[in-house]
Amino acid sequence: MKAGCYQFSPSFGNKKQNIEKVASAIKNAASDLIVLPEFFATGYQFTSTDEVAGFSEPIPEGYTTELLSDLSYEKNIFIVAGLPEKSGDTFYNSAILTGPDGYIGKYRKTHLFFEETLYFTPGDTGFKVWDTAIGRIGIMICFDWFYPESMRTLALSGAEVVAHPSNLVLPFCPDAMPVRCLENMVFAVTANRTGTENRKDNQSLTFIGKSEIVSPGGEILVRATENEETLIVADIDLEKARVKALNPFNDIFKDRRPEHYRLLQK
Ligand code: ACM
Repeated sequence: MKAGCYQFSPSFGNKKQNIEKVASAIKNAASDLIVLPEFFATGYQFTSTDEVAGFSEPIPEGYTTELLSDLSYEKNIFIVAGLPEKSGDTFYNSAILTGPDGYIGKYRKTHLFFEETLYFTPGDTGFKVWDTAIGRIGIMICFDWFYPESMRTLALSGAEVVAHPSNLVLPFCPDAMPVRCLENMVFAVTANRTGTENRKDNQSLTFIGKSEIVSPGGEILVRATENEETLIVADIDLEKARVKALNPFNDIFKDRRPEHYRLLQK
C-alpha cells in the first residue's frame, strides 16, 4: 500500500482555509493513507483556555471530523489528523482516524508537551490500534515519541504502521524515529508542520518540518525538508512489519524478558 503525509504551515485559527488547503493538496494523491499534522486545522500556539474552548470540537460530531470523513469517502482513503477535542468542559489533544466508510476512532495524546499542559488534559484512551482494510494502524501524537513505551505498546498491540501527527519544535525526533521503528519493526509516518507562530510575547515557536516515512528496518524512505509545504508518499509493504525475526535465533518480540522490566515503576 501507499502511505503519505502532507507537511504545511497552518494559518492560526483559519480552520476552513486550512482544511481547504489540505483537500486541494491531497486531491490527486495516490496514497491509501494520509497523515496530517497535530492541530492541523487550528494551528498550535493557544494563549488561553477560552481560546482553546473556542477552537475545540466534539469528536466525532464536530466540523473537522465531518469534513475529513467526507474527504475520506470521496477519495476512498484513510486519514489520520490531529485536532483539539472538546468533551464537556475537558479538552484533549486528539487525533482521529477516518476511512472510506467515515469516522473510525480517536486517540487522545498521552504525553502533553510544554504549554499544552496548561490547557489540555492528558489522554485517557491509551494507545489504540485499528484493524482496517489497508492494515493495522496505530496512532501516537508528537511528543509521545519521546517515550519508547508509546510505540512499544502500539507495536505489541499489533500496529503495522504508526501514524504520528506532529508539531515538532525540538530537533530530535526525525533522527530518533528510525530507532523507534527498528526496535519495534514497524513503519511510521511522522507528519510534521512548518512555519513559526508568535502568538505570545517572548515566545516564538518554529516548527522543524522534516516529515518522514520510516521502514521497520529503520530506513528513512522519504523525508521532507525543513521548510517546504509538500506531500510525501512511499510504498510500504506491511508484511515487513508482521515478521519480528531479526535472524534465525532472534525474534525481537518473543525474546523480550518482561519479568526483568520495571515499566510500572513510579
Ligand atoms: C509536541 O508534542 N507538539 C512537540
